[in-house]
Amino acid sequence: MRRDIAELFELDPALTHLNHGAFGAVPRSVREAQDRARARIERSPMRAFRDELPAVLADARARAAAFLGLPAGSTALVRNVTEAVGVVLQGLGIGPGDDVVVSNHGYLTAGWSAEARGATLRTAEFPVDADPAKVAAAFAAAVTDRTRLVVVDQITSPTALVLPVAEVAAAVAPVPVLVDAAHAPGALPGLDVEALGVAFWAGNLHKWAYTPRAAAALWVAPGHREDMRPLVTSWSHGLSFPERFDLQGTVDHSAWAAVADGLEVWAELGGWEQVARNADLLLHGAEHVRSALGTESPHGGIPSAPCLRLVALPEGVADTTESAEALWQRLHAAGFVVPPVAFDGRGYLRLAAAPYNDEDDYARLAAALPQILAGAAPA
Ligand SMILES: Cc1ncc(COP(=O)(O)O)c(C=O)c1O
Repeated sequence: MRRDIAELFELDPALTHLNHGAFGAVPRSVREAQDRARARIERSPMRAFRDELPAVLADARARAAAFLGLPAGSTALVRNVTEAVGVVLQGLGIGPGDDVVVSNHGYLTAGWSAEARGATLRTAEFPVDADPAKVAAAFAAAVTDRTRLVVVDQITSPTALVLPVAEVAAAVAPVPVLVDAAHAPGALPGLDVEALGVAFWAGNLHKWAYTPRAAAALWVAPGHREDMRPLVTSWSHGLSFPERFDLQGTVDHSAWAAVADGLEVWAELGGWEQVARNADLLLHGAEHVRSALGTESPHGGIPSAPCLRLVALPEGVADTTESAEALWQRLHAAGFVVPPVAFDGRGYLRLAAAPYNDEDDYARLAAALPQILAGAAPA
């Protein structure tokens, strides 16, 4: 790890952290800002909830929108992408008799939430080495005349691909599209959400934009805004989108109060230059691991995310959910935080690159892997 940068975080130095994408890592200064926000609320909860938090939360929401290049009136704060999916399903009134389309690369959240509301799931299937036209065609083929929503992941969780969202939206029009952009804020340059031709876009700020957990942004196209309501409707009565999402009753608002602090750390760490440095590091790091394994990395027509990338494991390794879980435990016991992924009958490691990583992290993983895969503890 880069010690100078790692000191800004509170990660366990005994572990090699190569999975920033999963839950992010809150910088120490941001955790302290959140602690201060919480302490301030405790000085006079009545005054905080009534008189102070409305302005604090409106400011946090505006800052999140500006960070994403979006107008303040277009974007609400929610706690995470899972909540955003729930808001959209509720706002569209999706239920029994409706179809929702997801993909075989999609995160579980949307599918489970749609099924919980009684909708039928349809899955767009495409391989890890598909090209953009094939991806768009797979989504279009899954749409029926009962489809009320298509969910497309901008950066896929199991496979770390940047899906061609605009092409998918064009291919399934006029069905509204929700972009699950959980990994995009602060990690995917050139976001132009309003130009994607989608109805909804939700991204976590607590993964790659260094805010406290749980902070996420939900952008909604103008025609759908009035239908979108928070899942906790406590004090939102009479308010419009996005203000009605600000104060969601008696919950802990301290994460949102420290959103600006997280976004400032993102800029201080180098902003998009830091992302470019991490992307370059990941290319080299993944090559260390790949050459130690002697495998071919999957590559088709869809790019990998800048800071997330798959490396194929040898045939027969971690190619089921159970064996991937067992390997995760062995890797962790050996000091490496890196997720094995079973996808389409093949096992992969999903590597990440964060500001605190350096090439040595990947080199050490590469050196330890042969023994870990053989089931022995590394020397
Ligand atoms: C693509 C994708 N969507 C949604 C989520 C869920 O995010 P959250 O737990 O913050 O709702 C994740 C989590 O990693 C993800 O990778």
